[in-house]
Amino acid sequence: MQVHVNRTPTLVEDASRFILDTARESIRAGGLFRLGLAGGNTPRSVYARIAEQAGDLPWERVQITFGDERCVPPHDKESNYRMASESLLRHITIPEGNIFRLRGEIEPEEAARLYEEQLATFAARLGESRYVHDLLLLGIGEDGHTASLFPGSLALDETIRSIVPATGPKPPPQRLTFTFPLINSARRVCFLTNATGKEEVIERVLAGDERYPSARVKPVGGMATWYIGEPLEAK
Ligand code: 6PG
Repeated sequence: MQVHVNRTPTLVEDASRFILDTARESIRAGGLFRLGLAGGNTPRSVYARIAEQAGDLPWERVQITFGDERCVPPHDKESNYRMASESLLRHITIPEGNIFRLRGEIEPEEAARLYEEQLATFAARLGESRYVHDLLLLGIGEDGHTASLFPGSLALDETIRSIVPATGPKPPPQRLTFTFPLINSARRVCFLTNATGKEEVIERVLAGDERYPSARVKPVGGMATWYIGEPLEAK
């Protein structure tokens, strides 16, 4: 796997440019860009910058998925969908049907089953055994989690399903998450993170220490890119 690590004081500018360049290349090459969004806080400013700069992108050729979701309604302040909607989705002309929302408001197993069906139906149309993201954005937690794959979780060992319910220490605890089979079916992944408080875990993950779930992200497409913002000055 090729790993490109970018430590940068301009994470927002650099990561948004990378994502848009990847989008344009995917659409040019194959007429479609399948983008998985990361949750949490870091991506918000990157999504907002994309919304500012992507007026010319043919959004009807873009599909949006969510690497994980909290089991809350979409208008809840903890919802990853709400964060993406506020920063990006309501500011671009993407057809509603191109946004595959994880339904955090319904029973988690049912939500996972419905999403699994939705991705599998689209993948089958393209002759894929599992949905293939052109680019999957991911965050990393201080414990090395990514999406909602937390250390010690049973979800780490899922080898069949693409989406499963999961619980974790980061509130809210009940979540839905992509599994490694789906994450690693991506052509390319991109971690977006600020290094504050995560310097050590990032180094361990980059060294391949699989005690940390993020180290088990190995996209079959063979490309992992990191945008690491400089640590915020200790107050
Ligand atoms: C979530 C995210 C989670 C997040 C990391 C990093 O739903 O919380 O999917 O995996 O990406 O916890 O979060 P920050 O970017 O806010 O540090």
